[in-house]
Amino acid sequence: MATLSIRSVSSIEAEISVPGDKSVSHRALLFSALSDGECEISGFLAGEDCLSTAEALRQMGVEIAFDETDPTRLKVRGIAGRFTKPEDTLDCGNSGTTMRLLSGILAAQPFTTRLTGDDSLRKRPMDRVAIPLRQMGARVEGIGDRCTAPLRIDGSGELAAIDYESPVASAQIKSAILLAGLFAKGVTSVNEPHLSRDHTERMFDYLGVITTREGTKVSLQGGQVPTARDIVVPADISSAAFWLVAAAAREGSWVKIDRLGLNPTRVGILSVLSRMGAKITQVIDDSGCEPMGSVEIHGTQLKGTEIGGEEIPTLIDEIPIIAVAAALAEGKTVIRDAAELRVKESDRIAAVADNLRRMGVQVEEFADGMEIEGGAQLRGAEIQAIGDHRIGMSFAIAGLFAKGPTVIHGAECIDTSYPDFVTEIKALQKLA
Ligand code: S3P
Repeated sequence: MATLSIRSVSSIEAEISVPGDKSVSHRALLFSALSDGECEISGFLAGEDCLSTAEALRQMGVEIAFDETDPTRLKVRGIAGRFTKPEDTLDCGNSGTTMRLLSGILAAQPFTTRLTGDDSLRKRPMDRVAIPLRQMGARVEGIGDRCTAPLRIDGSGELAAIDYESPVASAQIKSAILLAGLFAKGVTSVNEPHLSRDHTERMFDYLGVITTREGTKVSLQGGQVPTARDIVVPADISSAAFWLVAAAAREGSWVKIDRLGLNPTRVGILSVLSRMGAKITQVIDDSGCEPMGSVEIHGTQLKGTEIGGEEIPTLIDEIPIIAVAAALAEGKTVIRDAAELRVKESDRIAAVADNLRRMGVQVEEFADGMEIEGGAQLRGAEIQAIGDHRIGMSFAIAGLFAKGPTVIHGAECIDTSYPDFVTEIKALQKLA
């Protein structure tokens, strides 16, 4: 098990280059595989999660060629949805996005596939995609009521379109249904309680697949094939979030990040940090598949805030690091409506509360969130990443503010989404 030792730093002043967006990288691979020709992808996140998607596609006959010197560049030869039956079980590793989005595609293939994943992924609910995909005509079997992996999917060459009311705002559910809908007869629609990230809709639009939106409901006509086009993946705001908080929470610190993904359905962390008092400037370029631009943040003594409702899907993956910002802020921060955190790579409400308490912070846990009493001096602590990359990275950042050393155990899971994080945080500690 890898350990990462962190000591406090007095300030951070840096321009940081952040890796490609995980959600957009998965979609770039999947949608170019579905397309009618060759797509070149640049800015790709060559982290373990996206490599699981690439490997699964290769097992189904998709040619993917990575640039020999630059793993962020690759070419995918689309096969217009005509996949071949994989010989082995597809291993999705730690990646819920791989398992759920692939399930949508596999539901429409005229063969049986099996999907599995690591210990964490095999605990996560797959009934949320199995239920609508069964309604469309596929057979999806997993373990128990929550349909956990390993999954067996008997696809149907004749899926029926559905009009689905999703009980949760989830881009993975929405995308799985829309992907199946591409192969279905008629118009498939998904409505969700709040708008979740819309990378699927944007990339479909960019590749010539027409979707229509009415409020939180999105629909598409089956039978469309994406047109091959080159795709530029922006830097991941969920990875940038660690440095944004590291700078935001201290007077005199700043960071600047270029080519950052600034999709409005993902930028909740910027609103929260600016409500908490950080000074943020952005320059946005909206001419590509995804809005992207440059963001500069200047730190201050942050103040507590309240987070909930429709803001939650716009920052769901950033809540662990926002909780660290809350611990460093003056006053209370209350996070509500975030029960989804309990079914992420770990139970992130429990993991954040436990680790903040280890560092001397008072936290009250709710079923759907937590209340954090900010302002106490953080104490260095022994932290278990429990196989969750975002827990590992969030508490490494907390360690930059703590009195005494912090040790992150099980830090290898960070490679899931940010393979260079450890090099980057060590470089910052040397500079400080
Ligand atoms: C993702 C959607 C989010 C997010 C996950 C990636 C995606 O999950 O937490 O890390 O790429 O679609 P939801 O399905 O809860 O929106």
